[in-house]
Amino acid sequence: MTPSQRGDQEMAEGAPAPAVLLIGPGRAGRALALGWHAAGVPVPWVVGRREEPARDLARAVGGRALSWEGLLDRGLPGPWPPVVVLAVPDRAVEPAAEALAGRLAAVPPGRRPRYALHLSGALGLGPLASLERLGLAVEVFHPLLPLAGEPLPSGAAGPAGGRPGGPAGGLPATPPGGRPATPPGGPARRDPLAGAYVTVVYAPGQGRAPVGPALARALGATAVPWPGATGRQLALYHAAATLAANGVTALLWAAEELLRHAGYPGVGGPAAGPAGSTGGGCPAGGGPAPSATAAATAPAGAAAAVPSGPAAAAPSGPAGRGDPARPPEGAGARAPLLALAGTALRAVAERGPLAALTGPITRGDAVTVARHLEALEALAPEAGSAGGLDPGPAGRYRLAAALVLAAASRAGAPRSGLDAVARLLGRRGDGPDGTGIGPG
Ligand SMILES: NC(=O)c1ccc[n+]([C@@H]2O[C@H](COP(=O)([O-])OP(=O)(O)OC[C@H]3O[C@@H](n4cnc5c(N)ncnc54)[C@H](OP(=O)(O)O)[C@@H]3O)[C@@H](O)[C@H]2O)c1
Repeated sequence: MTPSQRGDQEMAEGAPAPAVLLIGPGRAGRALALGWHAAGVPVPWVVGRREEPARDLARAVGGRALSWEGLLDRGLPGPWPPVVVLAVPDRAVEPAAEALAGRLAAVPPGRRPRYALHLSGALGLGPLASLERLGLAVEVFHPLLPLAGEPLPSGAAGPAGGRPGGPAGGLPATPPGGRPATPPGGPARRDPLAGAYVTVVYAPGQGRAPVGPALARALGATAVPWPGATGRQLALYHAAATLAANGVTALLWAAEELLRHAGYPGVGGPAAGPAGSTGGGCPAGGGPAPSATAAATAPAGAAAAVPSGPAAAAPSGPAGRGDPARPPEGAGARAPLLALAGTALRAVAERGPLAALTGPITRGDAVTVARHLEALEALAPEAGSAGGLDPGPAGRYRLAAALVLAAASRAGAPRSGLDAVARLLGRRGDGPDGTGIGPG
């Protein structure tokens, strides 16, 4: 084992996480800074383009706020923390890293931060190259979960103490008594990252142990170190995260819509919620309900987090204690569908996805699939199909059914039944092998 490999191992196994300068007090930055602060990892500086979010987060984590312009113009008024986290949108990572490198070039090498991290699962290390050239070790620190915007602990947003980047170069967000507004381990708050996975990408030859594993561990998350992952590998990884989070969410939306069309008891109201109402904008950011996300990312032993059986489906209020033959008023489509999806996720955790496949498509039950299609196609075309982007209930079913068919073909389901379903779905002859089953 080389000294650098030994260093990696030491950092992964026990070193405490060093202090962090956070740039970008948005959804992800806020969740991480609050989690690190609660775990005792210092976050002495929060840098933002806008005053209020930076100041409020700085106050919540016992640090100081600084404007992005102030940081670039004048640098830090004190020593740089060892870690800089660029919690900015994907498109801003490279320009922000370059701007920061311009400022750090004026800082003596021994006083620069040692690590620079960004949070995008879709980008490799390339956008941080300008910082790497200055001697910083660079890493991707990608939390595999949706972060929709942590509320700040109450009391965090107090009276303004000045402007970020003001005369002193920063705002003391710590109250005069010196105690942070939220003490480590302070008010009861479930850390969204606890139990999550964080993918940590770093260059294996950088000669410095990656800091991401220690930062993940501090959050109660499991780090998945991935030394040397390329941009193309990360694009595939991020596509997988997109399917597991946003894909599951969209399927559940399509299923809810079908129950509404069916007139399922307790389902009513408008056809669709406002766009973006499910939270964050990155693939891991618009994920399924937390319980489904937990199940999708949890090891098999942790599958109990998935809603399970009637207890998960039934509301606790009086409506849930009525006629046991009737679904409780207001339960709507979501609770029964989540209970069903939860069972499917548990089966995936226990047996793997191909062995867990069930249902008429996998069984090759063309009669039932034909009945589905007949009912779906009899529905009136949806008003306003989102400018042609939404193929409507029948089209959505066909899209999802094609994927089930592909999986069933890989699972070794009897071919004749799958062929019959493929013909119904109009997939015969579409596929790369001429069968129409399995889009590749
Ligand atoms: N949210 C999630 O679920 C999630 C999960 C995993 C990974 N990530 C990753 O985390 C990163 C941040 O995403 P987010 O969802 O937290 O975004 P966000 O909520 O939009 O927050 C972005 C933050 O960066 C600031 N910012 C934007 N452009 C900037 C620039 N050019 N220079 C400096 N600061 C800038 C924003 O300031 P303003 O408020 O002034 O615009 C805001 O404070 C992305 O790489 C994303 O892929 C997000």
